[in-house]
Amino acid sequence: MRSLAWLLPALALALAAACHAASHETSPGGAPEAASPEAGDDAADAGEPASIYIPGATQRPGDPDAGYAALVNDGYVGCGIPYTAYSQVYGAAAADQLLPGRNATNATIPYDLTRFTTTDVDGGVDVVGPNCLACHAAILGGQIVVGLGNTTNDFTVNLASEAALAQALLTDPNEIAELQKFVDRGNAIEPYTVPLTVGVTPADNIAAVLFAHHDVSTLAWSDTPLLPLPPTYAVPVDVPPWWRMSKKHAMFYTAAGRGDHARIMMTASTFCIDSVPQAQAIDAYFPDVRAFVETLAAPAYPGTIDATLASRGQLVFEATCSRCHGTYGSSGDAGGAAAYPNLVIPIADVATDPVLASGAAQFAGVYVQWFDQSFYGQIAQLDTQTGYYAPPLDGIWATAPFFHNGSVPQLEQVLDSTARPTYWTRTFDPSAYDIAAMGWTFTDLPTGQDAQSDPEQKKLIYDTTKLGYSSAGHTYGDALTSDDRTAVLEYLKTL
Ligand code: HEC
Ligand code: HEC
Repeated sequence: MRSLAWLLPALALALAAACHAASHETSPGGAPEAASPEAGDDAADAGEPASIYIPGATQRPGDPDAGYAALVNDGYVGCGIPYTAYSQVYGAAAADQLLPGRNATNATIPYDLTRFTTTDVDGGVDVVGPNCLACHAAILGGQIVVGLGNTTNDFTVNLASEAALAQALLTDPNEIAELQKFVDRGNAIEPYTVPLTVGVTPADNIAAVLFAHHDVSTLAWSDTPLLPLPPTYAVPVDVPPWWRMSKKHAMFYTAAGRGDHARIMMTASTFCIDSVPQAQAIDAYFPDVRAFVETLAAPAYPGTIDATLASRGQLVFEATCSRCHGTYGSSGDAGGAAAYPNLVIPIADVATDPVLASGAAQFAGVYVQWFDQSFYGQIAQLDTQTGYYAPPLDGIWATAPFFHNGSVPQLEQVLDSTARPTYWTRTFDPSAYDIAAMGWTFTDLPTGQDAQSDPEQKKLIYDTTKLGYSSAGHTYGDALTSDDRTAVLEYLKTL
């Protein structure tokens, strides 16, 4: 039924938005910039990158088992759809949507939603809302993989217009008030939530809006924004896999998330919470959630691997790629973590789409200041770089589409910029993942979004000529012979 369907993605988005506040708002330039797809192909080969080392930060210790339990059961989501309404629309989840380790309340709720009791009205309201796994889990090979980024969410729909329909399912005033709170906040962020295509999230755009609506010292919600609002254009962001966090010193593509990672992760609750004590209650267990995230390892490649070819590929990789992406397995210390260099590569060198890292929001400073002066900033900071983290490549076979904006459908194309499609589409069915190609089965299209007038078809097109969607850059694999490229690809299966 469609009447409630919009509410759930809206909340997932808000959850992420708050969490992923910082990726671009801190840019020094501040003003929005046009994407220049041709910008830096030439810079990529210019010797050593002027890379930026990201130092580590002390993390609060946590208990991974308690963290998993909290992740799949607790009410950090903060608000949601009253269960009374939810249960009139949805039945028990199918068996393949269920996760182990859930409490009795959540036993029949799908993995990406959590049912809990809110804390803001008398006695609380029994609600259902999306949890972190709405974006940070995905189906691969028929299994739910916790930590794998979901690249099939559709955030292109206009979320706000159908709220009244959900209200018609409720009679209890507390429940109506709870839904109304969610709807009001959804309306506040709605102009900022619509990307051009299915599969990417507008997450990084929205935190600024949420910060603007919360008092910096009390965290109380204000219907009137207290800070200037950012531009509405939703910069597309691909959800990264959680298993990278055991190696990465900072969170996010631009290394914006510094200091205590648990405190940054729990910023997700900014959408719903209205007071410091509420934030403190969630913060009390988020070190456990962070500890769980850090225990995750990449899934092993399920196909066959040609070991001889892979070891030849390792030599090429270590000569061509390791200076940025590190070394793995036996050639790295302690399983490879110690050999991961934690580098951000300036846009001028990596030359992938610049928008996310170079000023997609024009009021940058005010949002960073809000964060740093708020409860969140007590032990965490936002510090964005004008470049992109060279990520650990563990489990890279499973994480297409590639680059921070999800602009490249298959792994071989990352290593050959001339093979990347300008306009492409896919079915968004998880079963269309091509293990051998290490990416999505896709269709190369002759024309882009402008040539398609049907909005339902248009939103299925990844158009790399659009602002923020460029697939240019990262030409480090272009000079490889085709044999060497094949060998590197085989090696990447082993990571
Ligand atoms: C609507 C989707 C969405 C939801 C919900 C969401 N996230 Fe994210 N998450 C993202 C995106 C997109 C990024 C990448 C943002 C960036 O780097 O600019 C990200 C990045 C992260 C990272 C950093 C990964 C890295 O490699 O730097 C962590 C850790 C994380 N999220 C944890 C969480 C937790 C914990 C929750 C729940 C409290 C959550 N996220 C909810 C979309 C989401
Ligand atoms: C100068 C540093 C540098 C070198 C050398 C380099 N890369 Fe990268 N790589 C990056 C950066 C930075 C990104 C992130 C780009 C973005 O998201 O916009 C990246 C992204 C990637 C990705 C996509 C990750 C994802 O999840 O989207 C893959 C795969 C990759 N590199 C493989 C390689 C391989 C293989 C080589 C060697 C042929 C290589 N890289 C050489 C810096 C480098």
